[in-house]
Amino acid sequence: MSQTATKIPAVDFEKIRKDFPVLHQDVNGHPLVYLDNAASSQMPVQVAERIDHYHRYEHSNVHRGIHTLSQKATDAYELTRKKVAQFINAISHDEIVFTSGTTDSINLVANSYGLTNFREGDEIILSEMEHHANIVPWQMIAEKTGAVIKVIPVTDLGDLDMEAYKKLLGSRTKMVAVIHLSNALGTVNPVKEITDLAHDHGAVVLIDGAQSVPHAKVDMQEIGCDFFTFSAHKMCGPTGFGILYGKKALLDSMPPYRGGGDMIDKVSFEETTYNVPPFRFEAGTPPIAAGIGLSAAIDYMSGIGIDAIADREDKLVTYAADRLREVEGLRFIGDSETRASVCAFVFDEIHASDMGTILDKRGIAVRTGHHCAQPILRRFNVPATTRASVSFYNTEEDIDRLIDGIYYAKSFFE
Ligand code: ALA
Repeated sequence: MSQTATKIPAVDFEKIRKDFPVLHQDVNGHPLVYLDNAASSQMPVQVAERIDHYHRYEHSNVHRGIHTLSQKATDAYELTRKKVAQFINAISHDEIVFTSGTTDSINLVANSYGLTNFREGDEIILSEMEHHANIVPWQMIAEKTGAVIKVIPVTDLGDLDMEAYKKLLGSRTKMVAVIHLSNALGTVNPVKEITDLAHDHGAVVLIDGAQSVPHAKVDMQEIGCDFFTFSAHKMCGPTGFGILYGKKALLDSMPPYRGGGDMIDKVSFEETTYNVPPFRFEAGTPPIAAGIGLSAAIDYMSGIGIDAIADREDKLVTYAADRLREVEGLRFIGDSETRASVCAFVFDEIHASDMGTILDKRGIAVRTGHHCAQPILRRFNVPATTRASVSFYNTEEDIDRLIDGIYYAKSFFE
């Protein structure tokens, strides 16, 4: 991911932590340690208050009203599009489609772009470490079109086998869809190289950035991918809102995915014509408050500085990985040098769900299970892992509490 060579300004993360009331409570009689940030990050008061303000004083439907309140809501909602474009360095805010989240964004591309362009025998390349959201929509479209799915294998450390990827690419490759930062392994994939190689073969590229956008600077013009997807709730924003970035020429060429209000130009019973992108893909009244919440979340993260966030999270995850490595019997599932945000691990003698339950009793929130990525767990021959995922508001003390909790859990099984 984009690493800056410039000096990172000092940030008072202890002060930042106070912006998150949820972190300052006891759970099961212990101060909460929240290490499930890959599932959802927490929301600072600034974002919650912005959403509250909208509900109290600005609520109205968007894109529909001549009256002042509707204009105000529309302006606030549309400002999000501009902020997102700037945040990810898209060329234009016309390239930013509002969706309900990463899953919805990928379904949109599969159903609109995929269904229109894939033919029998065409190839869709995914990787072995994909989240179900970047597998199942493609399978559904492959079934309808006769396209074939090919899978990039993953090495023992959890990196993509790039030589195997190069061999999979060919004249039938129509789509390459790959996760940027793996929610199950913590691996950061070389998305620019993946994109360049796919483009050399005339394929279109979708990058699932659900975990990467909250963590470090992502730059659409630098990566060069055709589509990029992410969700507000993993970046200090609300649930139910997400982004599909798409290059303008591609979005222009794509038919609508859902029909309804706002996505049309003219409607008659004889013929309907469609609005231009991004509105063509945004049928119906959207989650306006959530969209405005994402705007506040971007302001919040930009206020801290995305490079400072990346630096903080990299230090925390390195500390976590080093401390976990000390624990006898612990085996990482995914131990890439590129690791960011996520440590996933197993013990032969302790099932992940037992580990998660015991940690929870001590106020420590981690995720256990297959993390909506069953194929990669199968690749490592494990049914489930325990996953600790950090955010910038975590502390080294949180990690120490996790380690103590793991030793406590181990004491039951020895
Ligand atoms: N994909 C999210 C996770 O990894 C929900 O937990």
